[in-house]
Amino acid sequence: MKQLEKLARIAKQLEPNTQQRLLIRDAVVQHTEKFLNSLYTRTAYAALNKSESLLNENFDEEGENVHSIISKVSTQIELDGINAASGFDMGYVPGGGVYSASLGDYWADITNLYAGIFYANPGAVRLENKLILWMAELVGYPSTACGNLTSGGSIANLTAIITARESRQLKAQDIAKYTIYLGEQTHHCVSKALKMAGLGEMLIRYIGIDAESKMMPLILEKQIQIDEEMGFIPWMIVASAGTTDTGAVDPLRMIGELAQRKNIWYHIDAAYGGFFLLTQTGKKLLEGIELSDSVVMDPHKSLFMPYGSGVVIIKNGNSMKEAFSDTAHYFQDFEPNELDFSPADLSIELTKPFRGLRMWLPLKIHGLAPFRAALDEKLILAQYFYTQIKAKGFETSNPPQLTITTFRFKFGRDENKLNKALIKSIQEEGKIYLSSTTLKGIFVIRLCILVFRTHKREVDIAIEVIEKHKNRLIKTLIDA
Ligand SMILES: Cc1ncc(COP(=O)(O)O)c(C=O)c1O
Repeated sequence: MKQLEKLARIAKQLEPNTQQRLLIRDAVVQHTEKFLNSLYTRTAYAALNKSESLLNENFDEEGENVHSIISKVSTQIELDGINAASGFDMGYVPGGGVYSASLGDYWADITNLYAGIFYANPGAVRLENKLILWMAELVGYPSTACGNLTSGGSIANLTAIITARESRQLKAQDIAKYTIYLGEQTHHCVSKALKMAGLGEMLIRYIGIDAESKMMPLILEKQIQIDEEMGFIPWMIVASAGTTDTGAVDPLRMIGELAQRKNIWYHIDAAYGGFFLLTQTGKKLLEGIELSDSVVMDPHKSLFMPYGSGVVIIKNGNSMKEAFSDTAHYFQDFEPNELDFSPADLSIELTKPFRGLRMWLPLKIHGLAPFRAALDEKLILAQYFYTQIKAKGFETSNPPQLTITTFRFKFGRDENKLNKALIKSIQEEGKIYLSSTTLKGIFVIRLCILVFRTHKREVDIAIEVIEKHKNRLIKTLIDA
């Protein structure tokens, strides 16, 4: 009994009382408030490499003061690398992470609701299913669609690929007979997913893209015909609604009609572009998305949620259930619910957090209007940036379809080297963060406007920064 009492006394430190909770919570909240209030003056990038001492950080038997912990995290982690909450982060495909979502996480973590199985928490599962159905309606899918809230676009794409594999009953010994069609700018997580789904030996056809970086349906059709004549079985077409390189949206309707004619599974990776469906411009641009069999959208991109928010939706919900549903003897206490599918029956996960609350809460607290406005604003800002940067003599690709502009400057001969030097110089300063890519062998800088905190002021500053570094570079070249 004494041993038990002693153990309980120590273990009870895991349950701080109201006052102790207030102390820890206040310290963390005060720190995050400071972080938020300093965002506009912080850099978007820093290569300080200050976190090395964390490698020597061990766990002691006694706990540490919360202020000392906060100090370590804030100085060794937060100031380093990309500041992904900053309105000056215009690299890759950012989103920012709205504040209200963090409260959803806080709430869901404290209640620790089990959102994997309907029986364990019917309300959490229903709320997530309702959220997914709302997204399915945005896409134009029927109410028989099903989906899953994932940790991001990569897992979401993998989930769609597994569903399609099971739905078309692909057998291991036949994999090499099947073909899949990707665009030249399809995100690499799709080919990675193929390997993870055991489909790595499938023939991957990369279809050519036009001057606007869109997949060319006529070439696609021809390739399918050639493959059929060669005895292959065309299995899946993956179109993009917003490529990572350029933000290109493939001709979704034309590809969809072809997929239907040929009875090929049609998947759309709309991880970046998906939530632009909340705008009129986006609706027009993504016209035909409803023809797809499956779609991926990333709330941590165009719905401005924090990292860890993805979604996959399958038009024929039953095929998702058939792909993932399983049972075990320890599940004998509950009957499966036929109306409200459990996430565990539609995904790779069993135990999962109540991920939906972080997405549902911001939509309820703010309403849809600010999300639509932010997306429309970003679309206009992208056009604004494109016009301004072009006017400053930079070479650009076509006007942005969504919110990415690719550009480079020309001076002398080795333009790839020159633009590499330009992005390096911009990143070293860190005021803004931009990334780069290579398009048909040409090195280009890309600027993606998607953080909800990016407004005209931030874009104007970005233009000034780019111009300043370009002029500096030209001066060093002339002086040399
Ligand atoms: C078009 C596209 N698809 C898929 C992904 C992968 O998503 P995640 O990073 O959430 O796994 C990305 C990531 O940027 C993307 O831009």
